[in-house]
Amino acid sequence: MSPSSSFSERLIAWQKSAGRHDLPWQNTRDPYRIWLSEIMLQQTQVATVIPYYQRFLASFPDVRALAAAPVEIVMEHWAGLGYYARARNLHRCAQQVVAVHGGSFPASSAELEMLPGIGRSTAAAVAAFAFGERAAILDGNVKRVLCRHFAVPGFPGAAKVHRQLWQLAERLLPASDIEAYTQGLMDLGAGTCTRSRPSCPRCPLADDCLARRQGRQATLPEARPRAAVPERSACFVLIRDGQRVLLERRPPSGLWGGLLVPPEGEVGPVLARFGLQAVGQRQLPPLRHSFTHFRLTLEPVLCDVHGPLLMAEPGLQWVELAQVATAAVPAPIGKLLRQVASAPD
Ligand code: ADE
Repeated sequence: MSPSSSFSERLIAWQKSAGRHDLPWQNTRDPYRIWLSEIMLQQTQVATVIPYYQRFLASFPDVRALAAAPVEIVMEHWAGLGYYARARNLHRCAQQVVAVHGGSFPASSAELEMLPGIGRSTAAAVAAFAFGERAAILDGNVKRVLCRHFAVPGFPGAAKVHRQLWQLAERLLPASDIEAYTQGLMDLGAGTCTRSRPSCPRCPLADDCLARRQGRQATLPEARPRAAVPERSACFVLIRDGQRVLLERRPPSGLWGGLLVPPEGEVGPVLARFGLQAVGQRQLPPLRHSFTHFRLTLEPVLCDVHGPLLMAEPGLQWVELAQVATAAVPAPIGKLLRQVASAPD
């Protein structure tokens, strides 16, 4: 197929020659069978779905049989497939098809989308496969194909990007052969334009794929943007007596659990807690440290003290500055203590 033919033409030709044709829900126009497969395939891979699909059809051969079954029996058939809301909606949908539509699925994506558990993309897939409706699908695989082919910037889950992808999906629809086109998008996304190792040499759309041309297959679609991390600050009192500093062991859970850290808090209350008086005190430069969920600015105050602790709380210990490298202190605290070791008295 010449590279100048359209996106849809190349995809349709490729689906016919290289796509999947023998899946158990293909080669039928029965909306019940197609709908059941699309619901099962929503969050689950083909190989996992097939035996469930076959057992389901054996027990519930049509929508009336499913609607009439007790929900517990339906759930038993679903057990192991996960995302159980799908099964409850499936059952409700079957009952609605019987009660509202006389046991025949409505024949348009717009009406299908009003049924429980059927979103826009699933409605389009069922309408395309069962009724030949020219409707666009946009599941996770299709988003990846489109984001790569057109180098769509932004996170596809963002509302604006999502809207653009729907517009793109609509614009690309072929005038005819919607079934092969829709199946082709699914086949390409599942087997060729895969998330981590796309097989570009086998792709019918590779010639004008912007991600491939720009070598950006690994970074498109873009990842969810990281939420801005909160900023926190904490004052640490580095109590020094000659060549040793006072550290306390943190409780086992929480930040720096079980590690040795200088007392945290304002200088006055910290010194009062231990019955100490400072003979010298100065602020050291702040130190920023990033954790997974926040950033911490450590504000160290160096306090020189003499004399014994009045309050010997459990967990407190004097650590020689020369021994800090081997003590159980967190990395940023180690950095602060090295500053103290090299600071003039
Ligand atoms: N994933 C979602 N729908 C599918 C279908 N009809 N065939 C293969 N994989 C799918």
